[in-house]
Amino acid sequence: MIQLVVVIVLSLILIDLGSTQLYQKSINWDNYANGQYSDSMAKSDFGSVSGWHNDRAMISNKNLRITLRKNALSGESGIVSATRIPDGSAYELDFDVRFHSQFDWSRGGKVGFGLGIGNRNTGCNVPFDGAGGTLRLMWYNDGKRVYFYPYVYHAGMAGPCGSNFGKLYPSSGSLEKGKWYKVHMYVKSNTGSNANGHVQIKINGDTLIDQSILWTTNDSKRLISNLSFHTFRGGSGDHWKSDVDSYIYYDNLSVRQISK
Ligand SMILES: *[C@@H]1O[C@H](CO)[C@@H](O)[C@H](O)[C@H]1NC(C)=O
Ligand SMILES: *[C@@H]1O[C@H](CO)[C@@H](O)[C@H](O)[C@H]1NC(C)=O
Ligand SMILES: *[C@@H]1O[C@H](CO)[C@@H](O)[C@H](O)[C@H]1NC(C)=O
Repeated sequence: MIQLVVVIVLSLILIDLGSTQLYQKSINWDNYANGQYSDSMAKSDFGSVSGWHNDRAMISNKNLRITLRKNALSGESGIVSATRIPDGSAYELDFDVRFHSQFDWSRGGKVGFGLGIGNRNTGCNVPFDGAGGTLRLMWYNDGKRVYFYPYVYHAGMAGPCGSNFGKLYPSSGSLEKGKWYKVHMYVKSNTGSNANGHVQIKINGDTLIDQSILWTTNDSKRLISNLSFHTFRGGSGDHWKSDVDSYIYYDNLSVRQISK
């Protein structure tokens, strides 16, 4: 009888914790030996992942290494993956990223983790519907220098593709191969048609973007619901391709839901 009461009380406490606890996830790949990082390993770490490719994901000295395949773009060239995370009106994340010492910058591409809101609009052909947004990071080679920029799909963006708001990192000089960059992202949903959401990216502690934003205009689509992992070349057009395989390394992913 006492045991039954204890079980019931414990269950009630757990149910209560479940309803108030905020989602949190940290992955550092430290307990893996060198070798393939398969879809099932990714699922055991992330909970869910879509679009994984075993042949492009390795553990290398306790880092996750993604291969960008030669002569390919978008999903063919790397990983376009997503993890379902609990709906939240504010999330932040951190990760470390390093381009291999022989990395071919080519024109550029998507790099690392990001957040998806509502319908999670991406791709340059999405008509503006106010029903979704995404925050991702790109690297870009303009022929003179190479930098990161924010790549943002949001309500009211100027063109068919995402906005970068003219924000670049570093502000002068180029990204360096073989160097670790610490990326911090923060997204807060807006309400109604008010630009009271927020977008922030910091790189090695320096602000790349930090401003209020109108993500969505439909409150039923305002919440953050996907963690994206997009690492690939492109853009579209052959000038985004490379004729060599290249590697990008990741470490210390941490994702935190700040509010429901
Ligand atoms: C969101 O994440 C889930 C789980 O990984 C995935 O099945 C779904 O395709 C993702 N949605 C988008 C738009 O990325
Ligand atoms: C908002 O999204 C919901 C769910 O998809 C949809 O039913 C509704 O029509 C949308 N509202 C507007 C104003 O587009
Ligand atoms: C990841 O975090 C660990 C523990 O804080 C730290 O020792 C390591 O240097 C970090 N990795 C990178 C690439 O900064």
